Amino acid sequence: MKVIKNVLQMQRIALKHLKDDDEIGLVPTMGALHDGHISLFLKSKKNDDVTIVSIFVNPVQFGPDEDYLKYPRPIKKDLEICKKNHVDYVFMPSVNDMFSQNHRTFTEVKTMQDILCGHFRPIHFRGVATVIVKLFNISYANRAYFGMKDFQQLKIIEKMTKDLNFRTKIISCPIVREKNGLALSSRNSYLSVDERNASVNISKILKEAMQDFKHKDLVSVKKNTLDKLQRIINSKIDYAEVVNFNDLSIADKNTKKAVFVVAIWIGKTRLIDNIVMTKQSTK
Ligand code: PAJ
Repeated sequence: MKVIKNVLQMQRIALKHLKDDDEIGLVPTMGALHDGHISLFLKSKKNDDVTIVSIFVNPVQFGPDEDYLKYPRPIKKDLEICKKNHVDYVFMPSVNDMFSQNHRTFTEVKTMQDILCGHFRPIHFRGVATVIVKLFNISYANRAYFGMKDFQQLKIIEKMTKDLNFRTKIISCPIVREKNGLALSSRNSYLSVDERNASVNISKILKEAMQDFKHKDLVSVKKNTLDKLQRIINSKIDYAEVVNFNDLSIADKNTKKAVFVVAIWIGKTRLIDNIVMTKQSTK
């Protein structure tokens, strides 16, 4: 495993692999790695000749009052995890190398970036889209791996990749959860024991919504779910919405494949989760 800290060096190495006809897989992360991230590495190891994991806490996707400085950075442990999982390259650029003082270019995915999380985190998705464009251009990836955990992010990146004609194929990966259902997240480390116990209810409630959606009408599923989420101790809901799987538009009574997406504060920690819901076939 090689650790690359320099953008030009990473680009040169990737270009060499491209010329050798190696298929390159990219797994973008912000570190504090857990089994959710590892599931992405393993998928790339299966599909690609070379797996590049980027670890970069991207400053341009954090708002001024968000947790950029506090975000966990357990570098030594992260490198051990990468090594253990036979990652070929860990790309860990410095902030200055990625975003010089003079950086002026940003990528926006109109409308999709402004709804759901985008409504509460106005610059977030433009920061995500911009860093992903840069990582695509640095890694020459054939495939890039993203978790369904960040469903809106996944859909925005799929759209950007299509709109801008990137050659990189986006591979979506299922949410990895703890046994109790809590979706793994680097931010779970902020939770106290009581908050963690409260957080477990989110996935339980979403699972019930998924069952109900099969045969109940959308309005009642939405209302019941919202009522239950509101009853979680020490919580504040940013949004709880049902969207179309394909394009994040608000679902209606005709929607067959929907996603219940939620963002909810437990104490001072903001958690997101979602579940895919399909109507029961009447045949
Ligand atoms: P980060 O939160 O580190 O997540 C990196 C990738 O891991 C994302 O694609 C995310 O969806 C996936 N992931 C996180 N938790 C997961 C889980 N429980 N199950 C499956 N996949 C999971 O998302 C980001 O970083 C950043 O926004 C990034 C895309 C790297 C751009 O900076």
